[in-house]
Amino acid sequence: MILKGQHVLSVKDFSLDLIHELFAVADNMRPYATRQKVTRVLEGAILGNMFFEPSTRTRVSFGCAFNLLGGEVRETTGLSSSALAKGESLYDTAQVLSGYSDIICMRHPDAGSVAEFAIGSRVPVINGGDGPNEHPTQALLDLFTIQKELSRQGRDIQELSLTMLGDLKHGRTVHSLCQLLSLYRGLKVQLVSPQALAMPTQYVDILENAGHQVVVSDKLDEGLPSANIIYQTRIQEERFATQAEANRYRGYFRLNKQVYSEHCQPNAVIMHPLPRDSRNDANELDNDLNLEPGLAIFRQTDNGVLVRMALFACILGVEDQLSKYERPVNWFPGLDPLRG
Ligand code: NCD
Repeated sequence: MILKGQHVLSVKDFSLDLIHELFAVADNMRPYATRQKVTRVLEGAILGNMFFEPSTRTRVSFGCAFNLLGGEVRETTGLSSSALAKGESLYDTAQVLSGYSDIICMRHPDAGSVAEFAIGSRVPVINGGDGPNEHPTQALLDLFTIQKELSRQGRDIQELSLTMLGDLKHGRTVHSLCQLLSLYRGLKVQLVSPQALAMPTQYVDILENAGHQVVVSDKLDEGLPSANIIYQTRIQEERFATQAEANRYRGYFRLNKQVYSEHCQPNAVIMHPLPRDSRNDANELDNDLNLEPGLAIFRQTDNGVLVRMALFACILGVEDQLSKYERPVNWFPGLDPLRG
């Protein structure tokens, strides 16, 4: 597979054929991710998991995905606890850490920093988010989820009508997702945000150049009725010049049961890269939707493990050897044996 030995820095590196191959491998990961079987295919391999910005699910799901394939994880979190805080360059850090690891995942607050790090790395590097720029593995798991959710409804990806909602200016997940969607033709995409947080023109152009029907709006009720998938995003307060400016948009759009019943299609799918901001003054995606069948946010996070396992397996060239290193599970397999 073309991913073998490669960095994953941007979704621009992915063709539709490559994505289909990757997603087929992700489907093969389900028995291992749901603890029906164990594989030790990456026994002896080490992942360097370097997260220089807050993260829960991306960091932990990268780590779990590697562990589920039998590999070990070494982690650094926070710039202040790494030698970057002593003035070390990304190049030097990469040279050093790649001597300790077989593959590295990295998140950093500056756009372009992970690509710069990759120049100094002697092993493949996966971008876990570089500032407002890109978050390629999130976009891949989002596309995987979109396909799964549409197929649950008996629909094909060509029937996608997607509303992206929230802080589209700073949200790297939607920036990467727009680029992946440009591999398709003739989809419906609604971009709903406060005007000051609109999707940057370069991404609107990418969607339009792919022949998608794009509608830009700053009104929640305009963007929801036509969507079969709603992709909500958090106000990215860490990317604003001042907290006061971010606060102006906190709670600007709120999705709750009342809005959902009034404006959305029955069983419209709700996605969110998470974290959702559940503080009272934001409460962008209300808990009263938690039992709604269309709420796909935790199916989305589960899918993240499958897609990240597939990336590791393909980059390290073991995607055809999973069952060779397989054995049964020894322990009680969780509270819901049907999960997944
Ligand atoms: C996103 C991110 O870090 O860009 N989170 C994630 O990785 N799942 C979205 C966000 O922080 O709002």
